[in-house]
Amino acid sequence: MLSEQNQIWLDKAYNLLQEKMKRELERVGSKIPFAAINGQFHDLMMPDGISWWTNGFWTGLLWQMYHATKEEDYKAVAQETEERLAEALVTFDKLNHDVGFMFMPSSVANYRLTQNAKSKSRALHAANLLAGRFNPTGEFLRAWDTNSFGSGDVRGFMIIDSLMNLPLLYWASEETGDPRFAAIANKHAFTSLHSILRPDGSCNHIAAFDPESGEFLGGIGGQGYGEGSSWSRGQAWAVYGYALTYRYTKKEEFLNAAKQCAHYCISSLAMSNWLPLSDFRASAEPVKYDSAAAAIIACGLLELAEQVSEYETSLYTGAAIQMLKAVEEKFANWNLEEDGILTGNATMYHDDRLSGMSIIYGDYYFLEAILRLKEKAIMIW
Ligand code: GLY
Repeated sequence: MLSEQNQIWLDKAYNLLQEKMKRELERVGSKIPFAAINGQFHDLMMPDGISWWTNGFWTGLLWQMYHATKEEDYKAVAQETEERLAEALVTFDKLNHDVGFMFMPSSVANYRLTQNAKSKSRALHAANLLAGRFNPTGEFLRAWDTNSFGSGDVRGFMIIDSLMNLPLLYWASEETGDPRFAAIANKHAFTSLHSILRPDGSCNHIAAFDPESGEFLGGIGGQGYGEGSSWSRGQAWAVYGYALTYRYTKKEEFLNAAKQCAHYCISSLAMSNWLPLSDFRASAEPVKYDSAAAAIIACGLLELAEQVSEYETSLYTGAAIQMLKAVEEKFANWNLEEDGILTGNATMYHDDRLSGMSIIYGDYYFLEAILRLKEKAIMIW
């Protein structure tokens, strides 16, 4: 039960989102956007083209809006966009562990809402690609095929983001009755508990393994500030990823991991007026934010609130609302003539090229969080 003040804020945010999404739908259509440059989304702006990891989020926004409003235009454009995205499965080039981010908000969402058989086979295709990245000696899913942080061997890289791709494997096992997908997801999630997650609830972005022997070699800062730091979007993937892993497995280890990460994130955000620093363990200056981290953490906390006892829910729901209100106040762009909802994004700590802009995944998780609070969200993950 929300306070009257929070309910008023929520209703207002939902109304603003409806207006904004309606206008964006008209302007953007079946383009596949990433970042709003000068208030404008462009089609496939990243060099990886159709295989870029964020390409499912626009479709996810449209499916969430269709589910919430039942307006057919959202469904029609979501389906057109998915047809385009399916090309990535044909070319295969540059696809990696992020196929869950690409095909859960598109094909799985479509299949869940419409039972579209083509969407089901696309999502199963993606699940098979993800399962094929499993390293059986190290028991983890290989993240990337190339190193964005310079040269070097990435065959043994596991990253925290992969936790959010595991639901594709759990979904595939549920759909097919074949336990192999879920078994791979379980192995990866257990490996992450003792390699990438730290005992205090913070985590590394990257854990490196010897790809031949599977020996754990150590943690790497990756998209965060540096060694031993705490990249906030990675922390967000950990909260939401472990909460979802618990939803699918009901294994206590993952519930405890999700709570550990959640408590760490809540205390870190409480120290910065609920605004998400890009890394929770960076130098005080310069101040860098990543608004998407707060939106993702909020979704993770709202997921966790559904998994815990009635006496624990208010902690997670209350903290989620604080974060959403803070980012909405500082970063939301409600100008109907401009694309993008949540400004204040950052792709990684040491790359300022897109910082401050709206990035599509930030918009997606902000919308999902608001719809979760309104009890209008479709469960995509
Ligand atoms: N690949 C996920 C992220 O950059 O957050």
